Amino acid sequence: LSGGAEVGVRPAGEADVEVVLRLWDVARSPAATTSDDAATVERLLAHDPGALLLADRDGQIVGTAIATWDGWRGHIYRLAVLSGYRRQGVGRLLVGAGQERLRALGATTVSAVGQDEPGPIAFWTAIGYRLDPGMLRFAKSL
Ligand SMILES: CC(C)(COP(=O)(O)OP(=O)(O)OC[C@H]1O[C@@H](n2cnc3c(N)ncnc32)[C@H](O)[C@@H]1OP(=O)(O)O)[C@@H](O)C(=O)NCCC(=O)NCCS
Repeated sequence: LSGGAEVGVRPAGEADVEVVLRLWDVARSPAATTSDDAATVERLLAHDPGALLLADRDGQIVGTAIATWDGWRGHIYRLAVLSGYRRQGVGRLLVGAGQERLRALGATTVSAVGQDEPGPIAFWTAIGYRLDPGMLRFAKSL
């Protein structure tokens, strides 16, 4: 990573909720649809402690990923890196940490929903993910 600064990945705690919300406000995928508020993030932390991963660069949170295992497959949500810190390997680091978590929990496959945009497609392809041609995502509000 550039600048010699250390970037580490750690699980989020309650004290991180506000900074995570601020990061998502400016850096989450434009394709993300879930509304963001403190209660939603706190519910995730309570439901699956360790799922919300933070990239910490000298004390500043520069990226996030949610890596969850539901007993069937692993999934990565909310991969987001602050724009000033992109193309420095932070996304790759977050996904790698998420994959380690999911593998340890028993997952043998992991998927992520991405945008039909060159950036996300190039990113997922570069880190070894294969686009499922013809797959569509169906969704409904409950
Ligand atoms: C997608 C995203 C998370 C990538 O994070 P990042 O920290 O910049 O990714 P990395 O630096 O680890 O990139 C790893 C490799 O992916 C590829 N890559 C990443 N972003 C790319 C881009 N915009 N265009 C082309 N290739 C890209 C490159 O091969 C890169 O390696 P390189 O920089 O050595 O060439 C970041 O751009 C982001 O937060 N985007 C907005 C939110 C979003 O779209 N999230 C994805 C939801 S599916």
